[in-house]
Amino acid sequence: MAIPFRSLTRKLEHRKRKSTRPFHPVKINTQHIRSLKGKQPVTALAVYDATSAALASEAGVDLLLVGDSMGNVILGFPNTLPVTLDMILHHTAAVARAKPASLVVSDIPFTEAHRDADILLAAAARCLQEAGAEAVKIEGGVTMADKIRRLTAAGVPVLAHIGLLPQQIYQMGGYRRFGKTPEERESLLADARAVTAAGAFAVVAEMVDHETAGVIARDIPVPLIGIGSGPHCDGQILVGQDVLGLTPGKTPAFVKAYARLGEEVKTAFSNYVREVRERKFPT
Ligand code: KIV
Repeated sequence: MAIPFRSLTRKLEHRKRKSTRPFHPVKINTQHIRSLKGKQPVTALAVYDATSAALASEAGVDLLLVGDSMGNVILGFPNTLPVTLDMILHHTAAVARAKPASLVVSDIPFTEAHRDADILLAAAARCLQEAGAEAVKIEGGVTMADKIRRLTAAGVPVLAHIGLLPQQIYQMGGYRRFGKTPEERESLLADARAVTAAGAFAVVAEMVDHETAGVIARDIPVPLIGIGSGPHCDGQILVGQDVLGLTPGKTPAFVKAYARLGEEVKTAFSNYVREVRERKFPT
C-alpha cells in the first residue's frame, strides 16, 4: 500500500527529531568550521570515495579530507609519497559527486607543495575547479606560511597540518610523537601561529604530545584538529577505514575502531564463495 506523502514527511521529521545523530541542514563551509572553536568539537574523517562520503555526511561529519593517506589505505603504497595530484583529483571528484553536506578538503601531495608558489596555486586551483574541493590541506608550519598566505590571498581556504608530517617521513626518521621537549613545544607553537597568521581556517595536529596540543589549542584562534594528539584539541580526525575496522594488520594505538567491518566483509565474501561452489547461488 502506498503511504501518503504528507504522512511520510511527518514520519521523517519525527525520526529526525528523535535521532541522536547531528543533522546538518546546510552545506558546511570553512566559516562554519572556524565558528565551532570553543563551542563544539570539529568532527573529521579521511575518505576517498562517493559511498563513504555520503554515509559520513549523513552521519554528521563536519569535514571530509581526501587525504594522501589513500596511498597506504587504499592504493597499496608503503607511505603517502607516491600519491600524485592526479590521484587526489580522481578521488576528490568521487567524494564531491556524493554532494556531502560536509566540507570537502583535498590534500596537496608533497611534489606540488614543495615546488614554487605558482605551481602550488595551480594545483590547488585544479582541486577546487576540476575536482570540486572546497579547501586544500598542506603539511608544514613556519616554512609553508608564505605559501599558505599566497593561497588564502587568492581565495583558496587552507587547512594546515603540523606535528608529524607523513610527507617528510624520510627526513623525520620515522613515525613518533612530537612536542614532548620544551624546544619542540615552542617550535610547534611557532608553526601553529605562523599558519594561522597566514590565514589557515583550521590546523591538523598529528601525533603531538597531548599537553602541547592543549597549549596550542588554547593559543590559536582557529580549531586545532587532532589525530593521535589527545583530548585537548578542538576536534578530531581519523581515517575512515580505521574507524570502520577495515584496516588489515596493526593500526596506531590512538585509533578507535567503531565497527569490525573487516571481519564482516571476510565472512560475506567466504559465504558467497561457498554458495557459488555449492551451486546454492544463484537459486
Ligand atoms: O592524509 C591524511 O589522511 C591525513 C590525515 C589523517 C590527517 O593527513
